[in-house]
Amino acid sequence: MAAPVVDAEYLKEIEKARRDLRALISSKNCAPIMLRLAWHDAGTYDAKKKTGGPNGSISNEEELKHSANNGLKIAVDLCEEVKAKYPKITYADLYQLAGVVAVEVTGGPTIDFVPGRKDSSESPEEGRLPDAKQGSLHLRDVFYRMGLTNKDIVALSGGHTLGRAHQDRSGFDGPWTSNPLKFDNSYFKELLKGDSQGLLKLPTDKVLVEDPEFCRYVELYAKDEDAFFEDYAASHKKLSELGFTPQTKGSARLVQSVFGMIVVVAALLLSFLYED
Ligand code: HEM
Repeated sequence: MAAPVVDAEYLKEIEKARRDLRALISSKNCAPIMLRLAWHDAGTYDAKKKTGGPNGSISNEEELKHSANNGLKIAVDLCEEVKAKYPKITYADLYQLAGVVAVEVTGGPTIDFVPGRKDSSESPEEGRLPDAKQGSLHLRDVFYRMGLTNKDIVALSGGHTLGRAHQDRSGFDGPWTSNPLKFDNSYFKELLKGDSQGLLKLPTDKVLVEDPEFCRYVELYAKDEDAFFEDYAASHKKLSELGFTPQTKGSARLVQSVFGMIVVVAALLLSFLYED
């Protein structure tokens, strides 16, 4: 992959923050809520309006108070520890880096992380994140609005291999798998088994089995963890870059040379016009 256009110092800070996040997440066992934070910052994206997305706006008090974000202040506060050490890093980059590290330290796939996101102080209106009580039509509405696909919906729902629901945050209770601190394909295996005591299935998890378009991916991921990891890493990268076009040195150079050419042509035109 071509190198991103953030300066060398910023890149160095990112690498240090990545190490600190690894230590923080491992010592506090907070991978699940860090992943949920990254997803909720990014999952507000509207591809048509070009608003929302991974822009750090979830740190705004107003957005943090949206009911879908109940409990996420814990993750925002944990990230503050890292932000205080590396103030140059944007919240947008920090939260997405935390999500990538959360998947990595719990045994999941490596996700390519490109820094350079900008922060926004504008929060989207409430209601852009999915409602767990609804069905496949709603899931499609929300994810298609972000510009994501059926495959992304199923692969990303595999994030529920980590963590649990909390009665006081969402009204749901319990983990999806028997080892909620291990990132693997057990979420999909459990989905195919149907109801099991002590394990949670949200209505939006169940529709992944009921809807044939979704179910073919559930079946694939349940039997082939490598296929899940490969698709998850690609979908997570997409989610973490919604509305963000990582600039590469190559593309920056192209912009510079096109701009240079325009200046030369304008100068030539002017000298031609003013020639006596
Ligand atoms: C498909 C639509 C989705 C719905 C309706 C949904 C809904 C929920 C709900 C209701 C909870 C419980 C929150 C609580 O009580 O603490 C939760 C937790 C969680 N969600 Fe989702 N989610 C969705 C997609 C995703 C995606 C795409 C990811 C990540 C890629 C994700 C990652 C997580 C994680 C890791 C937790 C556990 C948090 C913890 O243990 O504190 N979810 N989700």
